Amino acid sequence: MKRTVVVSGGGRGIGRAVARSFAMSGDWVIILGRRPSVLRDAAEALTAEASSPHGGRVEAYPADLSDPDSVAAVGSEIISRHSVIDVLVNNAGGVDRQATATLREIADSWLRDFRSNVLTAVMLTTALLPKLRRPGGRVINMSSIAALRGGGGSYTAAKAAVIGWTYDLARSLGKEGITVNAVAPGYIAGTEFFGTSMTPERHQRLVSETLDGRPGTPDDVAAAVYFLASEQASHLTGQIVQVNGGAVLGR
Ligand SMILES: NC(=O)c1ccc[n+]([C@@H]2O[C@H](COP(=O)([O-])OP(=O)(O)OC[C@H]3O[C@@H](n4cnc5c(N)ncnc54)[C@H](OP(=O)(O)O)[C@@H]3O)[C@@H](O)[C@H]2O)c1
Repeated sequence: MKRTVVVSGGGRGIGRAVARSFAMSGDWVIILGRRPSVLRDAAEALTAEASSPHGGRVEAYPADLSDPDSVAAVGSEIISRHSVIDVLVNNAGGVDRQATATLREIADSWLRDFRSNVLTAVMLTTALLPKLRRPGGRVINMSSIAALRGGGGSYTAAKAAVIGWTYDLARSLGKEGITVNAVAPGYIAGTEFFGTSMTPERHQRLVSETLDGRPGTPDDVAAAVYFLASEQASHLTGQIVQVNGGAVLGR
């Protein structure tokens, strides 16, 4: 069965790999992000790659998902064009790196990280909730290794909030046959996440924490998301799936 899949932050990095994995199996994928040209380029390239062998298709919907009006508008547009949503992947997020010397700057930075990582997911889910498939719908939220072991200040706190909210949502949607899980990636190279903050020394330290001696890739995370969205994962809900090469064990 071809599914309708929504991936926030689907134009780049992990989200793009997630979108690609669904499109390559023939699904109809909706990608969201703030930069229209990035989204449009990704949608065109992924549709071209997926369409001939498998019939998959990727559509771009630009939106700032931290803004309630923008989420309401894009949510209505998606709902008007798609009667059912099978899979929602709340992947959009990132780290605020602005200076935090004063209390005002600290408050603003924490709020930016909360908006970017938590409210994007909460608002998009709320907007699309009426159309999630019942039973059989899937919600997958992107957390982080930082939520489990600390180290990222306001980003750590925001990604921990994603996990707490995932538990609540799993409880409230379980009886309707919708599963809700979080994926917590470790160090994933090859995305825009680290900006200019990644140094060779930091890269080496992060790789040395893994048990397989390599950084994660966007495809590593996409594979976990794809499984959580599958029929085979129907009894798996309210969990955190870690994709970190063993940098953090268990939990
Ligand atoms: N890379 C890692 O090592 C790592 C580790 C753990 C967790 N993660 C998490 O994985 C997710 C994907 O990160 P990535 O590594 O792929 O980084 P990335 O390349 O920076 O991708 C982030 C994506 O989110 C979108 N986005 C950010 N804020 C948005 C907003 N307000 N509204 C709409 N879209 C927004 C961005 O698109 P626009 O800029 O165009 O809006 C971009 O497509 C994030 O939640 C991140 O926190 C990453």
